[in-house]
Amino acid sequence: MGKLDLRLPPGVKDILPEEIPGWHYLEDVVRELALLYRFHEIRTPILEKALLFKRGVGETTDIVLKEMYVFKDRGGRELALRPEGTAPIVRAYVEHGLHTRPQPLKLYYLGPMFRHDRPQMGRSRQFHQFGAEIFGAPGPLADAEIIAFLSAFLSRAGVRDWELELNSVGCPECRPRLLAALQDYFRAHLTELCPDCRQRLERNPLRVLDCKEAVCQEVVQRAPTPMDYLCSRCQSHFAAVQEELRGMELPFRINPRLVRGLDYYTGTAFEVLSSSLGAQNALGGGGRYDYLVQECGGPPTPGVGFAVGLERVLLALSKQPDCPFPTGEKRQGVFVVAPDEEGRREQARWVRRLRSAGVPSDRDYVAERGLRAQLRQADRMGARWALILGSEELAQGKVRLRDLEKGEQFDLPVERVIDWLKTEATGGKE
Ligand code: HAM
Repeated sequence: MGKLDLRLPPGVKDILPEEIPGWHYLEDVVRELALLYRFHEIRTPILEKALLFKRGVGETTDIVLKEMYVFKDRGGRELALRPEGTAPIVRAYVEHGLHTRPQPLKLYYLGPMFRHDRPQMGRSRQFHQFGAEIFGAPGPLADAEIIAFLSAFLSRAGVRDWELELNSVGCPECRPRLLAALQDYFRAHLTELCPDCRQRLERNPLRVLDCKEAVCQEVVQRAPTPMDYLCSRCQSHFAAVQEELRGMELPFRINPRLVRGLDYYTGTAFEVLSSSLGAQNALGGGGRYDYLVQECGGPPTPGVGFAVGLERVLLALSKQPDCPFPTGEKRQGVFVVAPDEEGRREQARWVRRLRSAGVPSDRDYVAERGLRAQLRQADRMGARWALILGSEELAQGKVRLRDLEKGEQFDLPVERVIDWLKTEATGGKE
């Protein structure tokens, strides 16, 4: 029998301690901005009924047809690992009667999503999204607010080269005429389409506009676009969104072929693209979905939202010369060293006092190692300071501090040392 291979399956990865500062950095930016923009956090489970996404995201989307992790649980229920966050939030909105709360309701979420797509740079099978949704606000100002929130997130996170693309994909009133025109056009060019698009053409002709295959690109360039078929309500809504974005000085580009990969969109659709990411260049995307709540069993309620892929944001930031979070391990905290019997009696008390004062601290767990072994351990553990409790210094009411980064050391009076370290540990911000 071969050796047991317990390594992770393709497309999923561990986030190791040295990568954590980037995640904490982004999560802090999300929380700080959510507070400023008055969005409230919601957490939904990773597991949902598969039916939610079939209904919500759409039976004929790539996500549901090809990418969703679906399985039967031990009770025979068909469940899915969530491939996206909007349908679950809508489900929660309906399930908890959130429409009875004051509207508009502004929610945000952070968490892992799962799609079984071919892994490549910027695309994995488990990835993390930060998303936001506004319920109960039908007007263009809500679209502008959601785009402003997304844009503020990217700017505040420090992402440099990104662009906003905007389109309107129409509503149930204008969509049938568009779909008919698309089918007519693509049927006339059937042999020029990729095999996937030949099928899409019958089930979901809008999606052909979004095909990345080189063969389809040429046909798509000359195809009708949603813009040519917008009803007057969609037209004026879209014009007002653009007007508002201009008022907020948020630059954008109209992309008439932007259609997005999920079926729930009506009206405004948008994506933010980064030039530094290669093929998977969408940092995020979103749009309006005015019928989803109703389709999921709730009262008619308009919605608009976005989601960004946090791995892609981190990737874009890590390529910038001015990456805003530490990428290596930073020396931190205090290692309390007891070189002799006297010090050992005091060691546990010092660690406790430092921790209660908010100074990250640790000690050696091997009893009675010598001074040099403990200092080596302090260095290996990445401590910034070694606090040495030598009997001679203690007898004079002092302790010795060694700065393990600069290699300097000095004594401080016992009564001053905790305050001094506290100021150092918090960078003097307290
Ligand atoms: P989406 O465009 O499918 O939209 O995903 C949003 C973002 O998630 C993408 O732009 C990308 O950054 C990231 N992403 C998607 N798939 C992967 C993957 N396989 N690996 C890494 N990152 C990925 C939605 O999910 C909608 N729920 C957005 C929304 C919210 N619309 C309205 N409200």
